[in-house]
Amino acid sequence: MPQVIGVPKETAAGEKRVATVPEAVEKLIKLGFKVTVQSGAGDAANCSDDTYRAAGAEIADTAEKLWSASDIVFKVLAPSAEEVGLMHEGQTLISFVWPAQNPDLMQQLAARKVTVLAIDSLPRMLSRAQKMDALTSMAGIVGYRAVIEAANAFGRFFNGQITAAGKIPPAKVFIAGAGVAGLAAIGTAVGLGAIVRANDTRAEVADQVVSMGGEFVKVDYEEEGSGGGGYAKVMSEGFQQAQREMYAKQAKEVDIIITTALIPGKPAPKLITADMVKSMKPGSVIVDLAAERGGNCELTEQGQVVVKHGVTIIGYTDLPSRLAKQSSTMYATNLFRISEELCKTKDGIINVNMDDDAIRGLTVIKEGNITWPPPPLKLPAPPAKPAATVPAAKKGHGHGGAGAPSSAKSMVIMFAVAAAAFWFIGANAPAVFLGHFTVFVLACFVGYMVVWNVTPALHTPLMSVTNAISSIIAIGALVQVAPPLMGGGGDRPEAWIIGLAVLAVALTSINMFGGFAVTQRMLQMFRK
Ligand code: NAI
Repeated sequence: MPQVIGVPKETAAGEKRVATVPEAVEKLIKLGFKVTVQSGAGDAANCSDDTYRAAGAEIADTAEKLWSASDIVFKVLAPSAEEVGLMHEGQTLISFVWPAQNPDLMQQLAARKVTVLAIDSLPRMLSRAQKMDALTSMAGIVGYRAVIEAANAFGRFFNGQITAAGKIPPAKVFIAGAGVAGLAAIGTAVGLGAIVRANDTRAEVADQVVSMGGEFVKVDYEEEGSGGGGYAKVMSEGFQQAQREMYAKQAKEVDIIITTALIPGKPAPKLITADMVKSMKPGSVIVDLAAERGGNCELTEQGQVVVKHGVTIIGYTDLPSRLAKQSSTMYATNLFRISEELCKTKDGIINVNMDDDAIRGLTVIKEGNITWPPPPLKLPAPPAKPAATVPAAKKGHGHGGAGAPSSAKSMVIMFAVAAAAFWFIGANAPAVFLGHFTVFVLACFVGYMVVWNVTPALHTPLMSVTNAISSIIAIGALVQVAPPLMGGGGDRPEAWIIGLAVLAVALTSINMFGGFAVTQRMLQMFRK
């Protein structure tokens, strides 16, 4: 019997998102599930009951019916106490849960003997997890919407214009914290034509800022801000002092500040002081994305828009919900991807496989037992430095460690066999063949050295281009085919040689054009 995925209407005040959209319903049904949606669940995200019906979902008219009919429940926000009361033993819930912040909720859920997958607990360091990462998809939306909110409150264009009515300078935007939300904000503000600057305590994001079209502004103080795992750490007092000076200078110059700075598990660092707000030009705007965690600006009021010292300070904490259709669609895709991982058999029955790193991380309660926090992830060791890897690669077939002496032995044997083979060929083959053969062996050696010393990430583009170039074979084959076709005299190759040459032309053409097509596609991936 296929399991039923239920999607209730979100109950938190003002929440407009819904956990799945009709496009995702179709895909879930293809995975073998049945889908039931509570009537009106998608109304605020422009997904009517009819569109869900058309996608193959059933509609339940009340929350009670929906929760009792569902084996798996997809939600956006953590369930309320009433919703937990509607859960039954054996049910699975997938939603935001924030287990560290909500210990009581965890106890209530465990008491219902349910299984809970917390989307916020996904191990983000796994590259396989990216497609399931709702924190990232929501943060991208938050960054975008922050710029839109700023543009709405700002009384001027973002882009510079020269019109008959005068010259308008471009708006200057400063982004504090260039994580996912910050980078999305940079991209959006650059797209609108503003001059964008950004700062972050993690030096590694400087290149990302530049690649999004922004300018990275450094704090004049040497200290690395990376606390591991792509997150920041609390900085020293000396750094904070130097950072405040730099921010104070930026505050005087820019029109819009968007703050996104956050350190996991800590209150938001106070980066914009009341004095900095006072120093901003009248009509300027601050969007404080960290409002929920106390705010990056001293004057932010959580959930409110306030005007202080002539500056509009936006402290909304529901930005994803303000772009409900987009965030619901992206969230639904993240949940669909999780469903794919949970149901590899495509028979509509999930398997919460605790041996899978991604699923282990997500699962905070398994059949009533709290399984959070998960054991630390065993990530593959970072790649060794090139100097160390080359000799290791040359060791070839020996598997290192205890096998080292035996690998040296096999190396000697290999060399002896190769030398004997060369001697045999040299002694018996015609002189013409020997010349070609030497070039061939040297070409293989040079090719091997070139390709193996290139970063693995670049292998595919490199190979596709070299495939195309190495199609010199085509020339050799054409030399064989051309004279008979053109009816020339002289030595006519035998029919089987012509046949082979035609085949070689066909195969190398595929290689050549395929190589260029692959390169073209890879280049397109990096273009806007
Ligand atoms: P993230 O962790 O990827 O980015 C935060 C960035 O701030 C990191 O790059 C970090 O290095 C940087 N940072 C930390 N301390 C800093 C400091 N003292 N100075 C400069 N940079 C510093 O987080 P993400 O996913 O980009 O989210 C950004 C913010 O958006 C968070 O505050 C999050 O709570 C908030 N958010 C707001 C929502 C809303 O509706 N307002 C909804 C969802 C998230």
